[in-house]
Amino acid sequence: MVVNYNIDLYIQIKRKNMKIISNNIKIFEEGDTKALPVIFIHGFPFDHNMWMDQINELSSGYYCISYDIRGLGESSAGDGQNTMELFVDDLFSIIDELKIEKPVLCGLSMGGYIALRAIEKKQSNFKGLILCDTKSGADTDEVKLKRAEGIRKINLEGLEGFIPDFLNNCFSDQFKEDKKIQYQQIIDKAVCFDPVGVKGCLLAMAGRTDTTSYLSKIKIPSLVLYGEKDSLLTLDKMKEMSDKIPGSGFFIVPGAGHIISIENPGFVNDKLSDFLGKLN
Ligand code: MLT
Repeated sequence: MVVNYNIDLYIQIKRKNMKIISNNIKIFEEGDTKALPVIFIHGFPFDHNMWMDQINELSSGYYCISYDIRGLGESSAGDGQNTMELFVDDLFSIIDELKIEKPVLCGLSMGGYIALRAIEKKQSNFKGLILCDTKSGADTDEVKLKRAEGIRKINLEGLEGFIPDFLNNCFSDQFKEDKKIQYQQIIDKAVCFDPVGVKGCLLAMAGRTDTTSYLSKIKIPSLVLYGEKDSLLTLDKMKEMSDKIPGSGFFIVPGAGHIISIENPGFVNDKLSDFLGKLN
């Protein structure tokens, strides 16, 4: 069931790298539309570029779709009153409008929350699931309070007061040291996002449901990846989630912090290629 938001809807087609704006969500397509579709869902506070290295490599064999989640990147924030359900509705809208048949979902962290809830709602619509540094559990009270503190900080100090601290925990020390310029560019970009959209994501994450009880019912092929140096999630918890998904593959991404797609693209690309190759 696709939700119509009754807001601007228009389509912008570029010859190469078709770009579509639907329900104010910016969508980016690469690769042959007849190939196996893979939808990449980014984490917080990032945009579709988080998957650039994966899409550059995989678009020769797959129809790669990425988008900016409502309120982040180039997708407008609206009123910022966001829920995880609204994010999932957006995903289903994209699938419906692009007329995508049985895509594979690939979500990192917040992107994984969206993917897991979408699978819980309509597993039969999907061909496979890739979960990167994410969790099925809802926010604990402690995390909810941190989200509230984050919103308070943004209200008082703007995104400059929130983003650098938040991102500091998303990357390994090694990455921050070796890739100073890239890391600073990531911060600079996120600081320019719409504060309403960033707060809307915090609200959506704080209010999301727990999908853990559905993990054992996932029947589609699944892959779980975990960054060896992820300081936001523990290996035990990630492994526990993976073990609950029947037949799921599990790999540790060497040296990478939370944002594995940026920190160790070579390893992540190899694992995605192997997994997707078996679905073709
Ligand atoms: C993310 O990377 O999407 C965030 O760390 C998710 C979260 O804050 O729960």
